[in-house]
Amino acid sequence: MRILITGGAGYIGSHVVKALGKLGHEITIVDNLSTGFQKAVTFGKLIVADLSDRSKMEDIFSTGNFEAVVHFAGSIVVPESVAEPLRYYQNNTINSHSVMTLCEKYRVKNFIFSSTAAVYGMPGDGVCREDSEKKPINPYGQSKLMTEHMLRDLAFSNKNFHYVALRYFNVSGADPEGQIGQSFPKATHLIKAACEAATGKRTHMDLFGTDYPTKDGTCVRDYIHVSDLAEAHVKALEYLEKGGESQALNCGYGHGFSVKEVISRVKEITGVNFKVNELPRRPGDPASLTAESSRLIQLTGWKPKFDDLNLIIKSAYEWEKNRPY
Ligand code: UFG
Repeated sequence: MRILITGGAGYIGSHVVKALGKLGHEITIVDNLSTGFQKAVTFGKLIVADLSDRSKMEDIFSTGNFEAVVHFAGSIVVPESVAEPLRYYQNNTINSHSVMTLCEKYRVKNFIFSSTAAVYGMPGDGVCREDSEKKPINPYGQSKLMTEHMLRDLAFSNKNFHYVALRYFNVSGADPEGQIGQSFPKATHLIKAACEAATGKRTHMDLFGTDYPTKDGTCVRDYIHVSDLAEAHVKALEYLEKGGESQALNCGYGHGFSVKEVISRVKEITGVNFKVNELPRRPGDPASLTAESSRLIQLTGWKPKFDDLNLIIKSAYEWEKNRPY
């Protein structure tokens, strides 16, 4: 297949580029390298461009003859979205609209969208089912939900267009072959921050909020290994290629760990007792989010291989120690 991957030089995108590249697909990547790295691109042709550059994007689509688009490019940090909402609506909603407009114009059949568990907001029992109520509590989740709505409406009006929106839970870990991983400096994600503290790249880490209504007062999340998530994209594309109906699908393992549990596991695995500062809650954080992801398994045949917090942490730590870029 000829596939356009937006944001393919970023953390998750680069793992999907590798998974699809290994299968022999013809890949074009468009990335503005704002949080991505040229060195993370292991397959395909990289075009450095911003999705808001209409004429460049028109050139890319008019010559690419793409059969599928996998759309990652966007902004992903919850507290940042609270501080800079308009940037999130630009990067996640308006730019997605532009990409979808070009997909329609150039008759792209299949579209995979990086959505998020943040579309659910604060589900009562912390468990998200695809048809649970969607009530985002931060601009990040709202900006992604608006794109999901555009996809739903476009697929309804245009029978040639099919999509899968993958709602990611907490993506972590690194390529087991050690070739790629999460590299963006000043990362805000928990396992990455803890591994940076364990390798001495930061003097300590912060723990945001110890008064949540959870087992130990800290937030609970469903941590999914990035290579399993990459495989979910491969499976979702195959599903659409076989004529599967448009869907939104959760990507998680279905069990959660608290922030305190993750931090103590990182200390145990690395043998480093780094300093942790307990701070008040961070804006925009729901208490608990775990996935019900049987629909992804049933519809696409996805089989997770790395559902093990220790393995996730080890791969993230190995990457952090040796990070080549
Ligand atoms: N946390 C800390 N200290 C840190 C970093 C994080 O205590 O240094 C806490 C957060 O407050 C939160 C939990 O760890 O309670 C997880 O935070 P992350 O920043 O790792 O991840 P988020 O849950 O905020 O968001 C991530 C992705 C979103 C996705 C969401 C779905 O960034 O794209 O998971 O659960 F929507």
